[in-house]
Amino acid sequence: MSIKSSLVVVSLLLSILIGLFLGKNSAPGGDADSRTRPLIGLSLDTLKEERWQADSDLFKKRCEELGADVLVQAANGDDTRQINDVQALISRKVDVIVIVPHDGAAMAKAVRLAHEAGIPVIAYDRLIKNCDLDVYLSFDNVKVGRLQAQWLLDHLPTPGKGRIVLVNGSKTDNNAFLFNQGAMEVFQPHIEKGDVQIVWEDWAEDWKLDNAKKIVNAAISKLGATGFDAVLAAADGVAAGAIQALSEEGLAGKILVTGQDAELVACQRIIAGTQSMTIYKPLKKLANNAAEVAVKMAKGKPIIANQTVNNGQIDVPSVLGDIFAVDKTNMMETVIADGFQPKEAVYGK
Ligand code: GAL
Repeated sequence: MSIKSSLVVVSLLLSILIGLFLGKNSAPGGDADSRTRPLIGLSLDTLKEERWQADSDLFKKRCEELGADVLVQAANGDDTRQINDVQALISRKVDVIVIVPHDGAAMAKAVRLAHEAGIPVIAYDRLIKNCDLDVYLSFDNVKVGRLQAQWLLDHLPTPGKGRIVLVNGSKTDNNAFLFNQGAMEVFQPHIEKGDVQIVWEDWAEDWKLDNAKKIVNAAISKLGATGFDAVLAAADGVAAGAIQALSEEGLAGKILVTGQDAELVACQRIIAGTQSMTIYKPLKKLANNAAEVAVKMAKGKPIIANQTVNNGQIDVPSVLGDIFAVDKTNMMETVIADGFQPKEAVYGK
Protein backbone atom coordinates (compact mmCIF):
# COMPACT_ATOMS: atom_id res chain seq x y z
CA MET A 1 0.00 0.00 0.00
CA SER A 2 1.43 3.43 -0.97
CA ILE A 3 1.80 6.21 1.61
CA LYS A 4 -0.96 8.13 -0.15
CA SER A 5 -3.51 5.30 -0.03
CA SER A 6 -2.71 4.41 3.59
CA LEU A 7 -3.32 8.08 4.48
CA VAL A 8 -6.72 7.87 2.79
CA VAL A 9 -7.60 4.73 4.80
CA VAL A 10 -6.47 6.37 8.08
CA SER A 11 -8.48 9.54 7.42
CA LEU A 12 -11.54 7.46 6.47
CA LEU A 13 -11.26 5.50 9.73
CA LEU A 14 -10.86 8.76 11.64
CA SER A 15 -13.94 10.31 10.10
CA ILE A 16 -15.97 7.16 10.89
CA LEU A 17 -14.79 7.35 14.51
CA ILE A 18 -15.57 11.08 14.69
CA GLY A 19 -18.96 10.35 13.19
CA LEU A 20 -19.65 7.70 15.82
CA PHE A 21 -18.48 10.05 18.58
CA LEU A 22 -20.65 12.94 17.31
CA GLY A 23 -23.57 10.54 16.91
CA LYS A 24 -23.38 9.59 20.59
CA ASN A 25 -23.21 13.21 21.69
CA SER A 26 -25.76 14.75 19.36
CA ALA A 27 -28.82 16.70 20.52
CA PRO A 28 -32.19 15.07 21.49
CA GLY A 29 -33.53 12.93 18.72
CA GLY A 30 -30.01 11.65 18.00
CA ASP A 31 -28.42 10.71 14.73
CA ALA A 32 -30.72 9.06 12.19
CA ASP A 33 -28.79 5.76 12.30
CA SER A 34 -28.47 5.51 16.08
CA ARG A 35 -32.07 6.55 16.81
CA THR A 36 -34.56 4.06 18.15
CA ARG A 37 -37.58 6.44 18.11
CA PRO A 38 -38.92 8.19 15.00
CA LEU A 39 -38.14 11.94 14.87
CA ILE A 40 -40.76 14.25 13.36
CA GLY A 41 -40.15 17.88 12.36
CA LEU A 42 -42.97 20.42 12.71
CA SER A 43 -42.52 23.74 10.89
CA LEU A 44 -45.18 26.32 11.76
CA ASP A 45 -45.95 29.67 10.19
CA THR A 46 -46.45 31.18 13.63
CA LEU A 47 -47.09 30.34 17.26
CA LYS A 48 -48.49 33.78 17.95
CA GLU A 49 -52.14 32.81 17.42
CA GLU A 50 -53.94 30.71 20.02
CA ARG A 51 -54.97 28.04 17.55
CA TRP A 52 -51.45 27.21 16.35
CA GLN A 53 -50.12 26.86 19.89
CA ALA A 54 -52.95 24.38 20.52
CA ASP A 55 -52.16 22.50 17.29
CA SER A 56 -48.48 22.30 18.18
CA ASP A 57 -49.10 21.07 21.75
CA LEU A 58 -51.68 18.48 20.69
CA PHE A 59 -49.50 17.20 17.82
CA LYS A 60 -46.43 16.85 20.03
CA LYS A 61 -48.38 15.09 22.78
CA ARG A 62 -49.86 12.51 20.40
CA CYS A 63 -46.50 11.87 18.68
CA GLU A 64 -44.90 11.27 22.06
CA GLU A 65 -47.71 8.89 23.06
CA LEU A 66 -46.96 7.01 19.82
CA GLY A 67 -43.29 6.75 20.76
CA ALA A 68 -41.90 9.50 18.53
CA ASP A 69 -40.03 12.72 19.27
CA VAL A 70 -40.87 16.10 17.74
CA LEU A 71 -38.74 19.13 16.85
CA VAL A 72 -40.86 22.30 16.55
CA GLN A 73 -39.93 25.43 14.57
CA ALA A 74 -42.00 28.61 14.14
CA ALA A 75 -41.16 31.14 11.42
CA ASN A 76 -43.14 34.14 12.67
CA GLY A 77 -44.68 34.81 9.27
CA ASP A 78 -41.33 34.97 7.46
CA ASP A 79 -40.89 32.78 4.35
CA THR A 80 -37.08 32.89 4.32
CA ARG A 81 -37.07 31.86 7.95
CA GLN A 82 -39.52 29.03 7.30
CA ILE A 83 -37.29 27.66 4.51
CA ASN A 84 -34.33 27.86 6.91
CA ASP A 85 -36.39 26.08 9.57
CA VAL A 86 -37.11 23.23 7.17
CA GLN A 87 -33.43 23.08 6.18
CA ALA A 88 -32.53 22.81 9.86
CA LEU A 89 -34.99 19.92 10.26
CA ILE A 90 -33.49 18.23 7.18
CA SER A 91 -29.99 18.52 8.62
CA ARG A 92 -31.27 16.95 11.86
CA LYS A 93 -32.33 14.04 9.63
CA VAL A 94 -35.94 13.96 10.78
CA ASP A 95 -38.00 11.10 9.36
CA VAL A 96 -41.01 13.22 8.29
CA ILE A 97 -41.64 16.98 8.06
CA VAL A 98 -45.05 18.46 8.86
CA ILE A 99 -45.51 22.01 7.55
CA VAL A 100 -48.09 24.72 8.25
CA PRO A 101 -46.96 27.09 5.49
CA HIS A 102 -47.02 30.84 5.90
CA ASP A 103 -47.04 31.02 2.11
CA GLY A 104 -48.47 27.98 0.36
CA ALA A 105 -46.64 28.80 -2.88
CA ALA A 106 -43.24 29.68 -1.37
CA MET A 107 -43.11 26.45 0.64
CA ALA A 108 -43.01 24.30 -2.52
CA LYS A 109 -39.24 24.86 -2.30
CA ALA A 110 -39.18 23.34 1.20
CA VAL A 111 -40.98 20.25 -0.12
CA ARG A 112 -38.40 19.90 -2.92
CA LEU A 113 -35.50 20.22 -0.45
CA ALA A 114 -37.02 17.64 1.89
CA HIS A 115 -37.61 15.22 -0.99
CA GLU A 116 -34.01 15.62 -2.17
CA ALA A 117 -33.04 14.38 1.30
CA GLY A 118 -35.57 11.52 1.04
CA ILE A 119 -37.92 13.01 3.67
CA PRO A 120 -41.71 12.96 3.06
CA VAL A 121 -43.78 16.08 3.79
CA ILE A 122 -47.27 16.52 5.24
CA ALA A 123 -49.06 19.87 4.72
CA TYR A 124 -50.94 20.62 7.92
CA ASP A 125 -54.19 22.63 7.64
CA ARG A 126 -52.88 24.78 4.74
CA LEU A 127 -52.12 23.35 1.30
CA ILE A 128 -48.65 23.66 -0.27
CA LYS A 129 -49.10 24.43 -3.94
CA ASN A 130 -47.37 23.24 -7.12
CA CYS A 131 -45.15 20.52 -5.72
CA ASP A 132 -45.01 16.80 -5.18
CA LEU A 133 -46.59 17.01 -1.71
CA ASP A 134 -47.10 13.64 0.02
CA VAL A 135 -50.19 14.25 2.17
CA TYR A 136 -52.57 17.12 3.01
CA LEU A 137 -54.56 17.10 6.27
CA SER A 138 -57.08 19.84 6.93
CA PHE A 139 -60.77 20.64 7.32
CA ASP A 140 -63.53 21.30 4.83
CA ASN A 141 -62.46 24.90 4.32
CA VAL A 142 -65.05 25.78 1.68
CA LYS A 143 -67.71 24.72 4.19
CA VAL A 144 -66.20 27.17 6.72
CA GLY A 145 -67.06 30.07 4.41
CA ARG A 146 -70.47 28.60 3.58
CA LEU A 147 -71.44 28.32 7.26
CA GLN A 148 -70.19 31.84 8.07
CA ALA A 149 -72.23 33.35 5.21
CA GLN A 150 -75.34 31.27 5.95
CA TRP A 151 -75.21 32.27 9.61
CA LEU A 152 -75.13 35.94 8.60
CA LEU A 153 -78.03 35.54 6.15
CA ASP A 154 -80.14 33.86 8.83
CA HIS A 155 -79.39 36.49 11.49
CA LEU A 156 -79.48 39.77 9.56
CA PRO A 157 -82.07 42.27 10.90
CA THR A 158 -84.10 41.32 7.81
CA PRO A 159 -83.07 37.70 7.23
CA GLY A 160 -81.68 37.13 3.75
CA LYS A 161 -81.16 40.83 3.08
CA GLY A 162 -78.30 43.15 3.95
CA ARG A 163 -75.05 44.95 3.25
CA ILE A 164 -71.91 42.97 4.01
CA VAL A 165 -68.26 43.93 4.64
CA LEU A 166 -65.87 41.09 3.79
CA VAL A 167 -62.63 40.84 5.76
CA ASN A 168 -60.83 37.97 4.06
CA GLY A 169 -57.66 36.28 5.30
CA SER A 170 -54.09 36.39 4.05
CA LYS A 171 -53.54 36.09 0.31
CA THR A 172 -50.50 33.89 1.00
CA ASP A 173 -52.81 31.25 2.52
CA ASN A 174 -54.77 28.99 0.18
CA ASN A 175 -57.40 28.56 2.90
CA ALA A 176 -58.28 32.25 2.70
CA PHE A 177 -59.45 31.74 -0.89
CA LEU A 178 -61.43 28.62 0.05
CA PHE A 179 -63.21 30.46 2.89
CA ASN A 180 -64.05 33.30 0.49
CA GLN A 181 -65.19 30.84 -2.19
CA GLY A 182 -67.58 29.14 0.24
CA ALA A 183 -69.02 32.44 1.47
CA MET A 184 -69.55 33.77 -2.05
CA GLU A 185 -71.29 30.54 -3.14
CA VAL A 186 -73.90 31.22 -0.47
CA PHE A 187 -74.19 34.97 -1.07
CA GLN A 188 -74.29 34.83 -4.89
CA PRO A 189 -77.98 33.95 -5.43
CA HIS A 190 -78.98 36.68 -2.94
CA ILE A 191 -76.68 39.19 -4.65
CA GLU A 192 -78.31 38.33 -7.98
CA LYS A 193 -81.77 38.95 -6.50
CA GLY A 194 -80.50 42.33 -5.24
CA ASP A 195 -81.05 41.34 -1.59
CA VAL A 196 -77.40 41.23 -0.57
CA GLN A 197 -74.64 43.70 -1.41
CA ILE A 198 -70.93 43.29 -0.72
CA VAL A 199 -70.26 46.93 0.16
CA TRP A 200 -66.58 46.56 1.10
CA GLU A 201 -63.98 43.82 0.66
CA ASP A 202 -60.31 43.47 1.47
CA TRP A 203 -57.71 40.86 2.45
CA ALA A 204 -55.96 41.07 5.85
CA GLU A 205 -52.26 40.61 5.14
CA ASP A 206 -50.70 37.83 7.26
CA TRP A 207 -54.05 37.35 9.03
CA LYS A 208 -53.03 40.20 11.34
CA LEU A 209 -55.48 41.84 13.75
CA ASP A 210 -54.13 45.31 12.96
CA ASN A 211 -54.62 44.84 9.24
CA ALA A 212 -58.21 43.71 9.78
CA LYS A 213 -58.82 46.71 12.01
CA LYS A 214 -57.55 49.02 9.26
CA ILE A 215 -59.92 47.40 6.76
CA VAL A 216 -62.96 47.98 8.97
CA ASN A 217 -61.77 51.51 9.86
CA ALA A 218 -61.64 52.23 6.13
CA ALA A 219 -65.09 50.68 5.57
CA ILE A 220 -66.58 52.82 8.34
CA SER A 221 -65.05 56.04 7.06
CA LYS A 222 -66.17 55.32 3.49
CA LEU A 223 -69.64 53.87 4.17
CA GLY A 224 -70.49 55.58 7.45
CA ALA A 225 -71.58 53.91 10.68
CA THR A 226 -74.95 52.93 9.22
CA GLY A 227 -73.60 51.84 5.85
CA PHE A 228 -73.39 48.10 6.54
CA ASP A 229 -75.15 45.40 8.57
CA ALA A 230 -72.53 42.70 9.04
CA VAL A 231 -68.83 41.92 8.85
CA LEU A 232 -67.85 38.54 7.52
CA ALA A 233 -64.46 38.16 9.25
CA ALA A 234 -62.73 34.99 8.06
CA ALA A 235 -61.21 33.99 11.44
CA ASP A 236 -61.21 35.00 15.10
CA GLY A 237 -57.91 36.89 14.89
CA VAL A 238 -59.22 39.19 12.17
CA ALA A 239 -62.63 39.35 13.91
CA ALA A 240 -60.79 40.82 16.93
CA GLY A 241 -59.42 43.61 14.73
CA ALA A 242 -62.83 44.21 13.14
CA ILE A 243 -64.48 44.42 16.58
CA GLN A 244 -61.86 46.90 17.82
CA ALA A 245 -62.66 49.17 14.87
CA LEU A 246 -66.41 48.77 15.50
CA SER A 247 -66.12 49.52 19.22
CA GLU A 248 -64.24 52.76 18.52
CA GLU A 249 -67.46 53.88 16.78
CA GLY A 250 -69.78 52.44 19.41
CA LEU A 251 -70.87 49.75 16.95
CA ALA A 252 -69.61 46.61 18.70
CA GLY A 253 -72.55 44.32 19.41
CA LYS A 254 -74.75 46.18 16.93
CA ILE A 255 -73.15 44.81 13.78
CA LEU A 256 -72.95 41.05 13.17
CA VAL A 257 -69.37 39.71 13.07
CA THR A 258 -68.34 36.14 12.16
CA GLY A 259 -65.12 34.32 13.05
CA GLN A 260 -63.40 30.94 12.99
CA ASP A 261 -61.29 28.81 15.35
CA ALA A 262 -63.34 29.03 18.58
CA GLU A 263 -60.43 30.76 20.31
CA LEU A 264 -61.07 31.40 23.99
CA VAL A 265 -61.22 35.19 23.56
CA ALA A 266 -63.63 34.75 20.65
CA CYS A 267 -65.92 32.47 22.67
CA GLN A 268 -65.86 35.08 25.45
CA ARG A 269 -66.78 37.80 22.93
CA ILE A 270 -69.67 35.64 21.71
CA ILE A 271 -71.02 35.35 25.25
CA ALA A 272 -70.45 39.11 25.75
CA GLY A 273 -72.28 39.79 22.46
CA THR A 274 -69.55 41.64 20.52
CA GLN A 275 -68.84 38.69 18.18
CA SER A 276 -71.79 36.77 16.70
CA MET A 277 -70.41 33.35 15.84
CA THR A 278 -67.29 31.32 15.22
CA ILE A 279 -66.43 28.08 13.49
CA TYR A 280 -65.35 25.24 15.72
CA LYS A 281 -62.71 23.05 14.13
CA PRO A 282 -61.89 19.99 16.25
CA LEU A 283 -58.13 20.61 16.32
CA LYS A 284 -57.47 17.56 18.46
CA LYS A 285 -58.75 15.30 15.68
CA LEU A 286 -56.54 17.03 13.10
CA ALA A 287 -53.46 17.03 15.34
CA ASN A 288 -53.95 13.40 16.39
CA ASN A 289 -54.51 12.29 12.82
CA ALA A 290 -51.43 14.20 11.65
CA ALA A 291 -49.35 12.61 14.41
CA GLU A 292 -50.62 9.13 13.51
CA VAL A 293 -49.95 9.66 9.80
CA ALA A 294 -46.50 11.13 10.47
CA VAL A 295 -45.44 8.25 12.72
CA LYS A 296 -46.74 5.69 10.21
CA MET A 297 -44.80 7.41 7.40
CA ALA A 298 -41.68 7.50 9.58
CA LYS A 299 -41.99 3.73 9.97
CA GLY A 300 -42.59 3.28 6.23
CA LYS A 301 -46.15 2.01 6.81
CA PRO A 302 -48.99 2.74 4.35
CA ILE A 303 -51.41 5.54 5.19
CA ILE A 304 -55.09 5.93 4.31
CA ALA A 305 -56.46 9.11 2.72
CA ASN A 306 -60.16 9.29 1.83
CA GLN A 307 -59.87 11.86 -0.96
CA THR A 308 -57.47 13.95 -3.05
CA VAL A 309 -57.00 17.71 -3.44
CA ASN A 310 -55.28 19.12 -6.52
CA ASN A 311 -52.43 21.48 -5.61
CA GLY A 312 -51.77 22.69 -9.17
CA GLN A 313 -49.28 19.89 -9.83
CA ILE A 314 -50.67 16.65 -8.45
CA ASP A 315 -53.75 15.20 -6.75
CA VAL A 316 -52.54 15.13 -3.14
CA PRO A 317 -53.90 12.32 -0.91
CA SER A 318 -55.94 14.25 1.66
CA VAL A 319 -58.08 13.97 4.76
CA LEU A 320 -60.50 16.85 5.41
CA GLY A 321 -62.39 16.93 8.70
CA ASP A 322 -65.81 18.40 9.40
CA ILE A 323 -66.41 21.77 11.08
CA PHE A 324 -69.29 23.36 13.03
CA ALA A 325 -70.91 26.79 13.35
CA VAL A 326 -71.03 27.98 16.98
CA ASP A 327 -72.94 30.86 18.52
CA LYS A 328 -74.40 31.70 21.93
CA THR A 329 -77.15 29.11 21.50
CA ASN A 330 -74.95 26.01 21.02
CA MET A 331 -71.70 26.96 22.77
CA MET A 332 -72.41 24.43 25.53
CA GLU A 333 -73.14 21.48 23.21
CA THR A 334 -70.10 22.06 20.99
CA VAL A 335 -66.96 23.82 22.21
CA ILE A 336 -67.65 23.21 25.92
CA ALA A 337 -69.01 19.66 25.65
CA ASP A 338 -65.97 18.68 23.57
CA GLY A 339 -63.62 20.07 26.25
CA PHE A 340 -62.16 22.44 23.65
CA GLN A 341 -62.56 25.46 25.94
CA PRO A 342 -63.30 25.44 29.67
CA LYS A 343 -66.85 26.53 30.61
CA GLU A 344 -65.67 28.74 33.51
CA ALA A 345 -63.29 30.67 31.24
CA VAL A 346 -65.84 31.13 28.43
CA TYR A 347 -68.65 32.26 30.72
CA GLY A 348 -66.38 34.08 33.18
CA LYS A 349 -67.67 32.14 36.19
C1 GAL B 1 -56.05 29.53 8.39
C2 GAL B 1 -56.64 28.53 9.32
C3 GAL B 1 -57.60 29.18 10.25
C4 GAL B 1 -56.98 30.40 10.91
C5 GAL B 1 -56.16 31.24 9.97
C6 GAL B 1 -55.33 32.28 10.68
O1 GAL B 1 -55.21 28.91 7.49
O2 GAL B 1 -57.30 27.50 8.62
O3 GAL B 1 -58.06 28.25 11.19
O4 GAL B 1 -56.27 30.05 12.03
O5 GAL B 1 -55.34 30.48 9.14
O6 GAL B 1 -54.23 31.72 11.32
